[in-house]
Amino acid sequence: MSFSRAIKIAPSILAADFANFGAECRAVEDQGADWVHVDVMDGHFVPNITFGPATCAAIRPHIRGVMDVHLMIAPVDPYIEGFAKAGADIITAHVEAGAHIHRTLQAIRANGAKAGLALNPGTGLDGVENLLDMIDLVCVMTVNPGFGGQKFIDMSDKVRRLRALIGARPIHIEIDGGMTPETAPIMARAGADVLVAGSAVFSGGSVENPAPYGANIRAIRTAAEAATGTAL
Ligand code: DX5
Ligand code: ZN
Repeated sequence: MSFSRAIKIAPSILAADFANFGAECRAVEDQGADWVHVDVMDGHFVPNITFGPATCAAIRPHIRGVMDVHLMIAPVDPYIEGFAKAGADIITAHVEAGAHIHRTLQAIRANGAKAGLALNPGTGLDGVENLLDMIDLVCVMTVNPGFGGQKFIDMSDKVRRLRALIGARPIHIEIDGGMTPETAPIMARAGADVLVAGSAVFSGGSVENPAPYGANIRAIRTAAEAATGTAL
């Protein structure tokens, strides 16, 4: 997994057919997804429940590229080993999930995964400066976590400040929530390179009819690349 700031589209399987995750992961990758984003929710940190390490382990063989696991759970630490063993390439924990995010990030890397730090819309960048040497990704939430299909909350000012803070460090800026061909360029222009999209990727398609996934991914990518001037 070499570092690049090129735009990457990460479909969230929260919007996939839950009875068909393996085939859905293969379908979005075949249709041009760069990463697969896996939303883990516990019904405690967020008001919704999805799945845990066993499901991640089951879908892992169906993902050729990066499995990007977003933990919306509290506590985090007791489960890090399980998600790492399930094959997560990136494990992202929320700064709001506990008092000891530094320890959590250390544990993620110690378990062999890349470490991500997620920030809710109401959370500022205070403290991020102290963690820059222990993170591979910052996930800036553009919805309050818990559900797919919510309305985009513009966090471009936060992303611009974060981009300046990161400087030349190899840290991805990921945006999660409400990404569409209309909102993605706003965040790409501000400095994001990973765009998570659930409903905007999976709408209109299915495992039997995956072409709309490809069209949706291309529409988001093209709009974002045009905004950053990296389009061919
Ligand atoms: C929200 C999740 C997101 C979300 C994205 O709690 O972390 O990954 O499912 O879904 P859309 O793209 O539908 O907002
Ligand atoms: Zn997510």
